[in-house]
Amino acid sequence: MDQKLTLLQSKLAESALGGGQQRIDAQHKKGKLTARERIHFLMDEGSFEEIGALVTHRCTDFGMSDQQFLGDGVVTGYGTIAGRLTYVFAQDFTVFGGSLSETHAEKICKVMDLAIKNGAPVIGLNDSGGARIQEGVNSLGGYADIFYRNVQASGVVPQISAILGPCAGGAVYSPAMTDFIMMVEGSSYMFVTGPNVVKTVTNEEVSSEELGGAGTHAGKSGVTHLVAANDMDCMDKIKRLLSYFPQNCEDKAPQLPYTVGHEFREELSNIVPENANQPYDIKDVIAGIVDMGTFFEIHERYAENIVVGFARLAGRSIGIVANQPMNLAGVLDVNSSKKAARFVRFCDCFNIPLLVLEDVPGFLPGTDQEWNAIITNGAKLLYAFSEATVPRITVITRKAYGGAYDVMNSKHIGADMNFAWPTAEIAVMGAKGASEIIFKKEIESAADPAAKLLEKEREYAETFANPYRAAARGFIDEVIQPRETRRKLIKAFAMLEHKVVNRPRRKHGNVPL
Ligand code: HXC
Repeated sequence: MDQKLTLLQSKLAESALGGGQQRIDAQHKKGKLTARERIHFLMDEGSFEEIGALVTHRCTDFGMSDQQFLGDGVVTGYGTIAGRLTYVFAQDFTVFGGSLSETHAEKICKVMDLAIKNGAPVIGLNDSGGARIQEGVNSLGGYADIFYRNVQASGVVPQISAILGPCAGGAVYSPAMTDFIMMVEGSSYMFVTGPNVVKTVTNEEVSSEELGGAGTHAGKSGVTHLVAANDMDCMDKIKRLLSYFPQNCEDKAPQLPYTVGHEFREELSNIVPENANQPYDIKDVIAGIVDMGTFFEIHERYAENIVVGFARLAGRSIGIVANQPMNLAGVLDVNSSKKAARFVRFCDCFNIPLLVLEDVPGFLPGTDQEWNAIITNGAKLLYAFSEATVPRITVITRKAYGGAYDVMNSKHIGADMNFAWPTAEIAVMGAKGASEIIFKKEIESAADPAAKLLEKEREYAETFANPYRAAARGFIDEVIQPRETRRKLIKAFAMLEHKVVNRPRRKHGNVPL
């Protein structure tokens, strides 16, 4: 028996060493942690149970029979994060550069299947040179097996992908189908074709970092939702993100213990400037509403004219979508519509109530927007709100103009409660533009056209640039003081706690992709 135990121990020790100490040292030299170290920092102490530590690849070509590494370049298993069951796979760059073989893929599929059946999140820690080149189509098949499961798991359990090294070729498509992607500044990159292929095909000279580094995907493409400073920071961010999510689509969003008090926030009264054309930071409004320090922004550097993120309100997880007057006056455009639509759909998948803070002058005009399909992309956000069945509340802080009024979670598309501050302006368009159109003849024939325009502008503003027309029609449920916003929202979300919506039976809707 002793001999057999020794054999088992030596095999497990061999597996734990991955590609060997030399390659582990090389990984450390790059400022990166190993797969096992990442799991150690991610999961609750001592909770991780490994599955498949003794798996080996089946490839016999190119002398591969002589190169066997127990575990085959990926560490898979389950454990807990903040006491909650979580499945994880971490690619081990020290074994064939973390490349994906048939058996490597089978290990990942096994934990994904378990996660779907048992209703718990899956975290993928990606660090891989892509398809295991020696295995050819076996590897491609392995990728497709994972892609298929990503889709089966979508909307059933949360899926998070951390990119902690290279991620090239079709390998990027598994992360792309998960709910959130995180990249590490300076050490991770994602692209379908690398700089060499780009040079050959398009003659562009571009570095890996510029083509697909964290900065590029955070600011330009929006592929990554979050950026971490290093591997440890990335593990911390995954833990924080998960803390806002339920375990699966049948579960409720987490509610921490909280005793409701007076909840007035005086600071909210002084944020919106007197001059309606002056910007202010919507994040000050968010901070004034949510539980102290709980706002966790997603897509911070992308489409900054809209702010999305998770927070807690009286201990309850909520998702926030807010126009940002500090950037492009908070206008809706192609990128902000896509960003917000994806976020709304995630929250709806996982029963996370939605709070919308609205200050929007409309959709951004221009050829660039029209030719980049603002029609289809704006419709994404309209569709996402309209199909969401989670509790939905809107607070109009200032402008709610034109089509953007309808789109931003209006009463008409199913919002449950619509509040407005006294500073709200709810109209088809701003007073100046409106007056120029409807009083055109009167202004042109006036002795002093400029003075006439001003007079008409004032008249239009007095009639429409307020929340009272909308309140009279019941499109706004209540005009509230900014200072009482937090208290109103806590009560309204509690009132909506058991909301049930039954939709007509169908296979699935046809979101304008
Ligand atoms: C097998 C691989 C490998 C791969 C790296 N290695 N990539 N083995 N298949 N895809 C091995 C190397 O031979 C080396 O082995 C070790 O991993 C580390 O690689 P290095 O090149 O020394 O590391 P580094 O300099 O850090 O460069 C990392 C790298 C580079 C940028 C990832 O290795 C690289 O470009 N690899 C090829 C990437 C690629 O073209 N993949 C296929 C993409 S197409 P030793 O023994 O020396 O430690 C694809 C299709 C998927 O993925 C389609 C799905 C639909």
